Amino acid sequence: MTFDLVLFGGTGDLAWRKLMPALFQAFRHGKLPGGGRILAVARDERSDEQYRAFIHERFTEVDPSKRPNEEEFARFAAMLHYRRMDLSQPAHYAALDAWLAERAADTVVMYLATSPHLFPLVCEQLAAAGLNRPHVRLVLEKPLGHDLASARQINRVVRAAFGESQAFRIDHYLGKPAVQNLMALRFGNALFEPLWRRESIANIQITLAESLGVGSRGDYYDGTGALRDMIQNHALQLLTMIAMEPPSTSDADAIRDEKLKVLRSLKPFTADAVARDVVRGQYRAGTVAGQAVPGYHDEPKVPANSRCETFVALRTEVQNWRWAGVPFYLRTGKRLAARDAQIVVNFREVPHPIFPGTTRANKLVIKLQPEDGLELHLLAAKGSGSDERLAPVSLDLDFDKAFPTDRVGAYERLLLDVIAGRLNLFVRSDEQEQAWAWVMPVLQAWDLDALGPRPYAAGSWGPPAASALVARDGCAWAEEQ
Ligand code: BG6
Repeated sequence: MTFDLVLFGGTGDLAWRKLMPALFQAFRHGKLPGGGRILAVARDERSDEQYRAFIHERFTEVDPSKRPNEEEFARFAAMLHYRRMDLSQPAHYAALDAWLAERAADTVVMYLATSPHLFPLVCEQLAAAGLNRPHVRLVLEKPLGHDLASARQINRVVRAAFGESQAFRIDHYLGKPAVQNLMALRFGNALFEPLWRRESIANIQITLAESLGVGSRGDYYDGTGALRDMIQNHALQLLTMIAMEPPSTSDADAIRDEKLKVLRSLKPFTADAVARDVVRGQYRAGTVAGQAVPGYHDEPKVPANSRCETFVALRTEVQNWRWAGVPFYLRTGKRLAARDAQIVVNFREVPHPIFPGTTRANKLVIKLQPEDGLELHLLAAKGSGSDERLAPVSLDLDFDKAFPTDRVGAYERLLLDVIAGRLNLFVRSDEQEQAWAWVMPVLQAWDLDALGPRPYAAGSWGPPAASALVARDGCAWAEEQ
């Protein structure tokens, strides 16, 4: 199988920070089909050699374990090519078509790692040049739109130019090994399914916490905020995988149909519910890992009066027979106490305790970051003489240790899936639009709310109101339990 991958936005941050290292890892692991070509496209004039030198230099900023040595880079670089394109010029697409036709690869991947406002233009131009033939796959990076209307507009143009089976909408959280393991845990094992319902589960918490601030991305982030950046996509995708019904097959559409049903079952927000069930925050100066860090307003390219949220915690429910009444809490934020992404499934307590002392409910923790693993928290007898007290213990599974040689990073996995045409880990347009439809009342209520986001100190777990949100139901966030 031969492939050509055309990377629009080939000199941008995403290209050199994430995509080139992922492509290199796939190459190093021998998983990239041989003889492939990678063509970076951007606005300025460069030769292939100049582009290779640019990537070579950028690799020095990549995690050392993912950096090529000189010999590896030379072999990898032989796949890299560069082409200047003005994305509004039909003649440039015709020239691209001619370049691709030189050897007619089995699969051509058009990866749009550009600003999303260019997606419609590029899709239309590709189609006009005939670069939407069935062997062409289109990859669209997040963010896909800014609200429901713009997402629909992009999807309309994509659908007019490409079939749904050609469109690969990336949510890189779906490529994380822990997320694939969530599917394996639920549908490859019989153990949990009978418990996976309202009768046994008290609540579910999804936390996507980052200790970093917005860094140099202030201009992008300030027009986006945590709800659009993390909740509308990553957190909701995780929620769908936790809450979905077992699909009848592992086909992409069987899975995506079930995920869509979950999104359609989410309790809709009214203005009152937004005030009650959603907390937004913005970080102030504080200390993270012993280092003093500035507040959001003092970050580069952030306006001094910005009302952009850098933290969101919310409570929702999945309104169906399996989940009725079970709270799902979602939380994300920048400059929190730790980099910690996890899903905590809190089970109900025993109906009638017979041991003295602690009663503590079981919980299953699915850890996505910094390491991926599983913890099952139980109570056990300490076995110390006549004392019948129970103590908490946990069964821990570290996937890096269990499968030391097979772990691949999210982008590596997703890029290989695009080349192979596997759609399971990509988001369908109806899922995406439904997720936008669900967050829109929150965005609208915030626009009308004079209060703005609540301040929280960098290095904390967000505004106190986030703890109060779960305490109302008699719950606590994992770090407070
Ligand atoms: C991106 C967001 O989608 O995900 C970033 O735009 C965020 O703001 C990043 O930092 C987090 O990804 P990860 O894989 O580092 O958890």
